[in-house]
Amino acid sequence: MVRDSLDRQLKDLRISVTDRCNFRCPYCMPAGSFGPSYRFLPREELLTFEEIARLTRLFTLLGATKIRLTGGEPLLRDGLPILVNRIHGIEGVRDLALTTNGYLLAELALPLRQAGLGRVTVSLDSLDEEAFGTMNGRAYGPERVLAGIRAAESAGLSPIKINAVVQRGVNEHTLVDLARRFRGTPHIVRFIEYMDVGNINGWRMDHVVPASEIVARLEEAFPLEPIEPNYSGEVALRYRYLDAAGEIGIIASVTRPFCGDCTRARLSTEGKLYTCLFGTEGTDLKGPLRSGATDEELTGLITDAWRRRSDRYSEERTTMTGSPGRKIEMYQIGG
Ligand code: GTP
Ligand code: 5AD
Ligand code: SF4
Ligand code: SF4
Repeated sequence: MVRDSLDRQLKDLRISVTDRCNFRCPYCMPAGSFGPSYRFLPREELLTFEEIARLTRLFTLLGATKIRLTGGEPLLRDGLPILVNRIHGIEGVRDLALTTNGYLLAELALPLRQAGLGRVTVSLDSLDEEAFGTMNGRAYGPERVLAGIRAAESAGLSPIKINAVVQRGVNEHTLVDLARRFRGTPHIVRFIEYMDVGNINGWRMDHVVPASEIVARLEEAFPLEPIEPNYSGEVALRYRYLDAAGEIGIIASVTRPFCGDCTRARLSTEGKLYTCLFGTEGTDLKGPLRSGATDEELTGLITDAWRRRSDRYSEERTTMTGSPGRKIEMYQIGG
């Protein structure tokens, strides 16, 4: 077990397996900046499956039990079920999840489940054609994503969570419909306050719909009751329907930050360890890996970075003056 300077353990590892994506959500990879000539990382800069598996094992020895694969869009990484199978085989991995935009999930849900994936979180910002088309930057409708969710269900991936980023004036009028679609099912829709991740999305506080307002809008349609977190440090505030089965979650990282319980380490596509979603500098692990570092040396690097950790960006945001240094982008670190 390793603790940071604010006494937080390292319990979760989130691994970005590619910086590419088939969507162009304006809040993450705006099409104007990520056109056909944009150069994503060349293959040799990505951690290999062997490297990811080796690092994951070292993280589990330090206390990480929860692993999440992200991107970019992780389903674009060739052979992903092979990686899932390797991670699944690591002793100490108790929860193996994946965050995806769902576009390719219909084909991959079963192979991923068979490889040992436990559950998926599918991003789906709206069921409304126009709002969703704007938010994925490709004018795609929600049908393929819904087919992906059905395939995940049939494959036995569970629980299925559905993440929707809420943006003022863009999809705020479609929240109730999204909740209604999954009300009474075991799937958990979670509404996320739009955050100032990265440097390119032009985030402003007035683009954020605060959690209190999201809940108020939903409560106008359905009676809700707050319920206890599933585990200490759970990111989403949970609510259950009073008149139907099922629950929803609200991720209020802007108006109700949760840094005090943050036990998440993040491994970027190119093999750097970040100790915060808003990190400005990572600790390079790929260089040492490729120049022959021993397990002890790699563990030492991870432990030192975690012990030094004092990040609490979301809690500081409200009191910050001036902007911080250049932050990591969401597509390099996967949320
Ligand atoms: P579960 O393991 O299913 O409880 O998932 P989770 O609560 O870790 O949530 P998930 O990985 O689905 O993250 C949902 C969203 O919450 C992310 O896309 C981010 O927008 C936000 N989020 C997750 N972790 C953090 C974090 O450490 N800091 C901040 N500020 N936001 C986070
Ligand atoms: N604010 C909040 N959530 C975001 N995501 C991507 N960018 C942001 C942002 N700026 C979400 C995606 C997906 C997850 C990986 O992170 O929609 O659900
Ligand atoms: Fe792709 Fe997810 Fe970023 Fe959208 S938020 S561009 S789906 S990585
Ligand atoms: Fe953790 Fe950083 Fe998010 Fe705070 S802002 S919860 S420290 S990742």
